[in-house]
Amino acid sequence: MSRGTWTRVVALALLPPGLLCTAEAAQPERLPQPQRLPQPQPASRFTPKFEALAETRLLMEGLAQPNYRALEEHLQRKPADVDTWAFARGQALLVAETGNLLLLRPPRNQGRDTWMKQAMDMRQAAGALARQLGGRDYEGSKAAMASLTTACNRCHQTFRVPVKVAPQAAPGARDAE
Ligand code: HEC
Repeated sequence: MSRGTWTRVVALALLPPGLLCTAEAAQPERLPQPQRLPQPQPASRFTPKFEALAETRLLMEGLAQPNYRALEEHLQRKPADVDTWAFARGQALLVAETGNLLLLRPPRNQGRDTWMKQAMDMRQAAGALARQLGGRDYEGSKAAMASLTTACNRCHQTFRVPVKVAPQAAPGARDAE
């Protein structure tokens, strides 16, 4: 008997009888060669693809405009309670996210970079407004709202959209151009 086997016999003798079988079973005479497990497939690259579905006009009518209008109403006087601040903050964030959606819809012909920049400006302005609303800063929120208004109108001017949004203006007011 080799020395290793003796050591094991001694070790087994010290084990309580109940454990003997399991211990023996767990110690095969020869350790198996390290198995060559099949290599996992390299994770296949998945590239998500964004896809614009709604017309820009729909985003304006369904997201930008209603949230802009509601913000404007909320800021006509200092919001009275925490819920109103929180609600208004959410609306500003929805306008900001609309900026992300606009990034998927640059004009096909020209002005792509300008469009992207102006959509990002709107996102930035709406994000800043959300932060002011989150901090319940009334003056800061009004100033941020003015910047957002500028960001909306700058894009409309650039792309010759005859719409001028303005606080207190009648809903859907259009510039005669
Ligand atoms: C990146 C450019 C861009 C930004 C920023 C932008 N708009 Fe527009 N907006 C457009 C375009 C383009 C149209 C014209 C869509 C059409 O009629 O096909 C439009 C149209 C509109 C209309 C008219 C929709 C209708 O019924 O014809 C309103 C209202 C409007 N936008 C509100 C806003 C508000 C509010 C904001 C800011 C919170 C804003 N937009 C920011 C590009 C922009």
